[in-house]
Formats: sequence, structure tokens, C-alpha cells
Amino acid sequence: MHKKYIRSALNYTGGKYKLLSQLFPLFPKKVNNFIDIFAGGGVVGINAAREYGIFAGEHSSFILNDIEPHVIKFFKFLKGANHKQFINDVEKTIERYGLSETSKYGYEHYGIDSSKGLGSVNKEAFLKLREAYNNGNIGSNEEQVLFYLLIVFGFNNQIRFNSAGKYNLPVGKRDFNASMKSKLEEFCEVISEYNFEFLNEDFRLVDNIKEGDFVYADPPYRITTATYNENGGWTREDDLDLFNYLNSVNAKNAKFALSNVVIHNNRENEELVKWMGKYNLHILNYNYNNSNYQSKARQSSTVEVLITNY
Ligand SMILES: C[S@@+](CC[C@H](N)C(=O)[O-])C[C@H]1O[C@@H](n2cnc3c(N)ncnc32)[C@H](O)[C@@H]1O
Repeated sequence: MHKKYIRSALNYTGGKYKLLSQLFPLFPKKVNNFIDIFAGGGVVGINAAREYGIFAGEHSSFILNDIEPHVIKFFKFLKGANHKQFINDVEKTIERYGLSETSKYGYEHYGIDSSKGLGSVNKEAFLKLREAYNNGNIGSNEEQVLFYLLIVFGFNNQIRFNSAGKYNLPVGKRDFNASMKSKLEEFCEVISEYNFEFLNEDFRLVDNIKEGDFVYADPPYRITTATYNENGGWTREDDLDLFNYLNSVNAKNAKFALSNVVIHNNRENEELVKWMGKYNLHILNYNYNNSNYQSKARQSSTVEVLITNY
């Protein structure tokens, strides 16, 4: 018996873990290639492999694409890595930098309680780690160990690089606790078991979609905000290009499902509403069955949807 869904090894902002139990029943029963075109932390693609893996033909693959290069590089690395060795290297590096190990020693050892968090304990060691990563000149194994640790020990597990390409977030509140470790182990297991491919492209350039393929699109939502939407942002043009892109996926007799938000704090994504009329709308909510999103909007400030062409 394996768990229903597994989490991403990176606690990715905007991650879809909590919605998986609503998304998968709305996905096609059978697909050829599965393309998670805005993969982020990879939680949809990785669980799709577990759901569809047994049906997938020899030549079909699970494609994880994202424009963020560091994450894709990390996934590629994990796919080829010896996982025991990687986790061992992670633990050795934590020791070497003198970062906290609450799973071994507990919070009391560090003289703080868990609600306050480990920021004051790890600040100095974290800055050393960040500097070593940003200075470069390290082997690819070390680079990926440090990248992973920056996410684990960094602010809200977020990923942010400045315009000079340097990781620039401060220390966070947590460490490589038992939960992070098991997420990493599970993620590694699945990534090596199935036929994954990793792409680091703007979605407009992912052009090899074929009949029978399924594209899952979870772009930044224009009317809400998140870190990955801060620099440069996601514009109206991006939305319109994505709608055209999905029209072309539809024209190829492939399937797509688009996650998005139609209303947020009384703002409506008008272009989305106009475009989605041709397709099927599913409102995502835990206890809500009415498919009229406007009446839903009166009850809560955010209406999250899935739009499908099947
Ligand atoms: C909502 S997040 C996806 C979260 C993901 N479904 C998960 O569960 O972790 C949106 C992603 O789109 C990526 N992105 C932004 N612009 C993009 C573009 N033009 N092409 C491809 N990916 C892009 C961002 O880097 C971010 O990872």
C-alpha cells in the first residue's frame, strides 16, 4: 500500500498538493505523454506518474517543464543521483555548517520553542551556506546539496534569485526535520522509478505536443500574487498567449486542463472568463457543488477553477 499522494521535496509556493484529490478525478483516465508545463515543485507531474504509470506505454513520458532553471536542474540531478548518497551528503553538510538538527536534538537543545522558529540559531551558518552557493566554483553534487539546503533553511522555503543570478532570501524558521527528509526520500523514489523528462523552457516554446497527450497548465495567476510572479510578473499578454497555446493543443486533438483563479478579492480575470466559454469549467472547492462561480464568489474571495477541453 502506498500513500495516496506524495508531496514535493521542495515546499514550493503555490504548490498544488492540497488540491490533488480534486484535480486527479477531473483528469483524463488515460493519457499518452503527460506534460506538466508549469511544473514548479513538480507535485502534479510526480503524482501523475504514480497515477498513470502503470498504463503508460513504453514510449510515453512524464514531462516537467518550468522557466525557473534552478529547480529543473535540481530535478535532473535527482533523477540521476544516488539518493542515499545525496541524503547522506545533505546531512554531512548540515553538520559541517553547524546548522540546527532538531530531528536529532529537539528544539530545547537550541533553547527555543518551535513556534518561534530557528532563524536566530541558523542565521550565521545560513549566510555562509548562501555565500558558498552564490560564489560558485563548486562541483555539481555540492551545488545541488547547497541549493536544496538553501530551500530547506531559507525563508518560507522560497526560491528567489536577484538580477545578478544570486540567491537572495534570508534564513527561515525550519530545518531538515523528519517531514522534509521523508518528502525528499519519497520524491527521489518516484523520480527514479518513472520515465521523466525535464525541460527548462518558456511554455510558448514547448511545441511537440501530439494527439493523445495531456497538458496540465498551472501558470502564475494574474489576479493573485506570489513570489514567482514578482520579478517581471505574469502579464495580460502571457495569459492571452497561454489561451492561444491551449487552443492549439486542442486543435491537435490533445487534451488540456488549466488551473486558474477567476475571481480574487472582487477582481475578475475578464480575458479568462471570455476564453473559457468554449471549454468546460470545474469549480474547485472542498464543500461546494454549484458550478456557478459568481454565486461562489459571494461566499469567498477567491474562486479557483479547472478548465478542460474534454
Ligand atoms: C503556480 S506555479 C506552479 C506550481 C506547481 N503546479 C506545483 O504544484 O508546485 C507557476 C510556475 O510557472 C512558472 N512559470 C512562470 N512563467 C513561465 C513561463 N513563461 N513558462 C514556463 N513556466 C513559467 C513559475 O516558475 C512557477 O513555477
